[in-house]
Amino acid sequence: MAAKIIDGKKVAEEKRAEIRERTAFLASRGIVPGLGVILVGEDPASVSYVTGKEKACAENGLLSFERRLGAHSSTEDVIALVDGFNHDPKVHGILVQLPLPAQIDERRVIAAIDPAKDVDGLTPINIGRMSLDEPCFLPCTPAGVIELLRRSGVQTKGANAVVVGRSNLVGRPLVNILTRKSLNATVTACHTGTVDLASHCRRADILIACAGKVGLITADMIKPGACVMDVGVNRVEDEGAKSGFRLKGDVEYAGAIEVAGWITPVPGGVGPMTITMLLDNTTLAAERAAAEHGEGRQAGHGDGPA
Ligand code: GUN
Repeated sequence: MAAKIIDGKKVAEEKRAEIRERTAFLASRGIVPGLGVILVGEDPASVSYVTGKEKACAENGLLSFERRLGAHSSTEDVIALVDGFNHDPKVHGILVQLPLPAQIDERRVIAAIDPAKDVDGLTPINIGRMSLDEPCFLPCTPAGVIELLRRSGVQTKGANAVVVGRSNLVGRPLVNILTRKSLNATVTACHTGTVDLASHCRRADILIACAGKVGLITADMIKPGACVMDVGVNRVEDEGAKSGFRLKGDVEYAGAIEVAGWITPVPGGVGPMTITMLLDNTTLAAERAAAEHGEGRQAGHGDGPA
């Protein structure tokens, strides 16, 4: 039987409707959640992501403030912009679009973000809090994957989860989050040094592909009935497409859909959730800031995804 398709666009829209209620409530108290976005250089994928984030802010009751720098900027130039956002009360969340050009020290830039505004969940302090299972902002793509599993009714407790990829943005945080008591999965972390990747994947009840390699996961690597989450967003040349490319995941979809129990398509699976979780975290940052200033928060919202 073909897999159930997890419709990320639909889930993202449900979540965005909830976010719009929260931003409307904040607006009634004179607060508009603000996202500060820093883009360095002209990488087409990064420009496209940033444009998508700003559009999503406008559609859901958030403001975005964009700062752009040329590709030859220095680490200090970027840190100066981060610092400006750190001290701007209209900015509740900060996002430095990655990757940064090679001459920029990404670690120093990320570490310069005020952890209270780190809605990307990438600062060492946030990652430490995440590892300790303390309240924090979860990185947006992993948070989106977890939200999709939750809303699709996929059982994580007792499941064997295999994460293929160990990036700081996706793989490592996912391994960490899935082992939390609240999710209770048994997690295997696979990477380029893994011997016999297929044998690990075949044991997965939940298989998460986030290696950035087109078609890495084939049907024969999937346990029948497993939940396959494809985080890959690889641009593949396509002369027939207006843009000249199309997006392909890390999973060979046509074969996988025949074996898996659930599957996320690319595009339209995990992708729409990433921006949605960024809106969620930024709204949460604004709610926290409002609570600190005695503005109060809408009843019913806890401490967010963490
Ligand atoms: N580039 C690709 N994905 C992301 C993300 O989630 N956050 C940031 N800052 N940059 C990215």
